[in-house]
Amino acid sequence: MAARSTGRLQSTSHELGPWFHNLHLPDGIETAPDHPLGDFPSYKWQAIAPHIPEDLTGWRALDVGCNAGFFTFELAKRGAEVTALDIDPHYLRQAEWAAERFGLSDSITFRQGTVYDLARLDEDYDLVWFMGVFYHLRYPQLALDLIVERTRRLLVFQTLTSPGDGEADVPANLRIDERQRMLDPAWPKMAFIEHQFEDDPTNWWAANDACVRALLRSSGMRVISVLTDLETYLCEPTDDLDAWTREAIRRECRVASGRDFDVVS
Ligand SMILES: C[S@@+](CC[C@H](N)C(=O)[O-])C[C@H]1O[C@@H](n2cnc3c(N)ncnc32)[C@H](O)[C@@H]1O
Repeated sequence: MAARSTGRLQSTSHELGPWFHNLHLPDGIETAPDHPLGDFPSYKWQAIAPHIPEDLTGWRALDVGCNAGFFTFELAKRGAEVTALDIDPHYLRQAEWAAERFGLSDSITFRQGTVYDLARLDEDYDLVWFMGVFYHLRYPQLALDLIVERTRRLLVFQTLTSPGDGEADVPANLRIDERQRMLDPAWPKMAFIEHQFEDDPTNWWAANDACVRALLRSSGMRVISVLTDLETYLCEPTDDLDAWTREAIRRECRVASGRDFDVVS
């Protein structure tokens, strides 16, 4: 009887494939056991988990680009109420099915949509998980600003990075004849990838570490720890931005996201 039910689950898992996340389902089934990156993304979670509060009871979390839900499930297991957002219905189908297997469906709201929809959703989150999505976006800074607007306590940010060498001492006001300084390997830079990267035409951007830090800072986040090998930055919101910058970001977000066309009239 048990063997028959495991066989049924195995075949449903197969029908729902291909899988990007190797989920370890309670029945012992793995959804992507031959993943080219190994036990993905379990090994990432093992490294990040110690930096996340063990008890997330009372926390509202948002997993942007949730895919099959690996991180959503880990956050829900710690007690968070999670909104799992993904643009791709294929992955949401997998995540919804797996949530039932884990008995976590009641703690999770699945939403098909894009990160840019945050411009129109009137909800805040204690924890936002923004992993593996930033570099796939044509408008990454807009997405980051929208996410920061919604983050109350903790942002887990991951992106594809490019080589760099520390953080340059960037002047408060760079002069037009000082642009040579941008050749410094420690200058914040984000490389644009016009063609494919690792066979994927949606890998548009690769920022160096100095640039990731600068982008996060200029969105109003303070980096509290970095897992360099995983290109992952844990951040908390600050009040460090001056009033002019805060207002400039707010206006740009509204205009760029089409949230309030009246601001340009
Ligand atoms: C590389 S996978 C990362 C999945 C997961 N966050 C992780 O780190 O393992 C990118 C995911 O983001 C989703 N995605 C891509 N563009 C998106 C967008 N504009 N808004 C929301 N999700 C998006 C994809 O469908 C895919 O599930």
